[in-house]
Amino acid sequence: MSTEAHAGTITIEQVDAAATFPLRSRVLRQGRPPEMPGDDAPYALHLAARTSAGDIVGVARFHPQDCPWLAAEAAWQLRGLATDPDVRGLGAGRALVAEGLTRVVALGGDLVWCDARVAAVGFYERIGFSVVTQDYDLTPGPHRGMVIELPIR
Ligand SMILES: CC(C)(COP(=O)(O)OP(=O)(O)OC[C@H]1O[C@@H](n2cnc3c(N)ncnc32)[C@H](O)[C@@H]1OP(=O)(O)O)[C@@H](O)C(=O)NCCC(=O)NCCS
Repeated sequence: MSTEAHAGTITIEQVDAAATFPLRSRVLRQGRPPEMPGDDAPYALHLAARTSAGDIVGVARFHPQDCPWLAAEAAWQLRGLATDPDVRGLGAGRALVAEGLTRVVALGGDLVWCDARVAAVGFYERIGFSVVTQDYDLTPGPHRGMVIELPIR
């Protein structure tokens, strides 16, 4: 999948976990190891947004995981979503999540949930997620539970 952005064409592609570590370290997990439990699980889906120059400017991970708040047959969790500050607002975050949701539907998933940092709640709402919890604390600060229900394949 490709999306036109001011920074040029951004392509979303599946990558191995290690390819997502530099951006995770820089944007999401300063002072913590970039690895997250489950990165190597067989169904973990790692996506990267790559510029035409070859640089990875966005990353996300989707993996099957029961939703803590809503009953679903086949829930997946979105974690580790980050875009490079240089491309914020240009559509890379939306393109990563859209591609992930399409792939999760194709794999039979019917819901995606995430622990959304409060600063990112507006982003998730913009792309179709809904808040389903009060604030709760999770490193590095307050989060809200958010979900999006998906069409059954
Ligand atoms: C949240 C994040 C991934 C968004 O990435 P992005 O590449 O800027 O997102 P997009 O450009 O695709 O934004 C899609 C839409 O959401 C809007 N948006 C982006 N970030 C937003 C925010 N924090 N609050 C409200 N709206 C936001 C954009 O303006 C855009 O609006 P549009 O529909 O009018 O075009 C990015 O800001 C980021 O990496 N933040 C730091 C790490 C983080 O918080 N990750 C999420 C952890 S839960």
